[in-house]
Amino acid sequence: MTRKILLIVGGGIAAYKACELIRLCRKAGIEVKCVLTAGGQHFVTPMTLAALSENQVYTNLFDLKDEAEMGHIQLSREADLVVVAPATADLLAKMAAGIADDLATTLLLATDKPVLAAPAMNVRMWQHAATRRNVATLRGDGVTILEPDEGPMACGEYGPGRLPEPEAILRAIQNLPSHLREGSGEGPAANTASLLTAPPLTPPASGRGTLAGKHILVTAGPTHEPIDPVRYIANRSSGKQGYAIAGALAALGARVTLVSGPVTLATPPGVTRVDVETAQDMANAVAQALPADAAVMVAAVGDWHVEAAAQKLKKEGGAPPTLHLSENPDILAMLAASPRRPALVVGFAAETERVVDHAVAKRTRKGADWIVANDVSGDVMGGEANAIHLVTADGVEHWERLPKQDVARRLAERIADAL
Ligand code: C5P
Repeated sequence: MTRKILLIVGGGIAAYKACELIRLCRKAGIEVKCVLTAGGQHFVTPMTLAALSENQVYTNLFDLKDEAEMGHIQLSREADLVVVAPATADLLAKMAAGIADDLATTLLLATDKPVLAAPAMNVRMWQHAATRRNVATLRGDGVTILEPDEGPMACGEYGPGRLPEPEAILRAIQNLPSHLREGSGEGPAANTASLLTAPPLTPPASGRGTLAGKHILVTAGPTHEPIDPVRYIANRSSGKQGYAIAGALAALGARVTLVSGPVTLATPPGVTRVDVETAQDMANAVAQALPADAAVMVAAVGDWHVEAAAQKLKKEGGAPPTLHLSENPDILAMLAASPRRPALVVGFAAETERVVDHAVAKRTRKGADWIVANDVSGDVMGGEANAIHLVTADGVEHWERLPKQDVARRLAERIADAL
């Protein structure tokens, strides 16, 4: 359980929401100590934060009194978790570069505790290549970075960049997977995860679910097979079912690596996500993620690719281009046949007719232990519910139509039983 947080309040209009976050944390029994940056002091005062947190607020790196009573190293380490909210583009950039030029950034560099950052900034700043790079670097270093909310911004623009609501930040604090929350003694660099702002599934509070100690690999989403620098071949997979399964497995305590094609979904809590584009990228990422105790291959992998043209194909003057398709690697079949085969290999079968017959044949053909078959002739792809048939060596189970989250939970429980 997170009992004490060090809250770093950065300089942005969203700093006022930090006040509500402190109130919610206190109500949830979490002690809060605040560090307010120079920028943050333009939006909220130290006195406000002190009154709400009922603790001294720290603002200055070179405050001798504080150094005598509580060095900045100690301040950064006595909390269970360091929370940066709002995390401005500037703070994220300094964190990514390891710059320590004020109290907040010095604490962030000195801490050996997990760090959770809730970004807030203008949409263009959030989408800027520099910020994308910094966020990727920080996630790679093990910092948990929430996805900002999308909506109208104080500056009049619209898009992602709003600070997640304080309730969502509190949930993220409470739901931080235990392997992140308790730290490993190696500092934030030991951990990699990113969180959904409103997690649908909660990792176990104890960190000891029925899948604790197991590593499970999940593939999800479509693949994009480029035709030229601007065009690609894709399919209608939304990634929702695969993401729900990854979240459900993490909620049972598994260490989950989610190899994901291009989707617009947030990473479920406690899941390590590897983004890929093509089937070949996905095959490479799957190989890199091994060994695993189980693999659940939910991705709708493109069956073919074309030799992508180096320049954009022109439509002027000439016949339409012919696309020469070549087969993609069958990742599931390769994994099932590999010497590093996980103990349990689960494949999916999306069919539009004779669903069960095709799934039974697919289980044998691909060497999978189980095939989860679904009829995609309706609105399953991109929809919220799924009626599946679980094909195993013992026969076929027909499940009633369920929300994808419930299919995910039930399947995760079956996997836990099997492992
Ligand atoms: O052959 P089909 O695409 O119907 O098989 C579906 C199953 O095989 C899914 O589990 C999917 O993730 C997996 N698959 C794969 N690599 C491919 C094609 C499918 O892993 N190239």
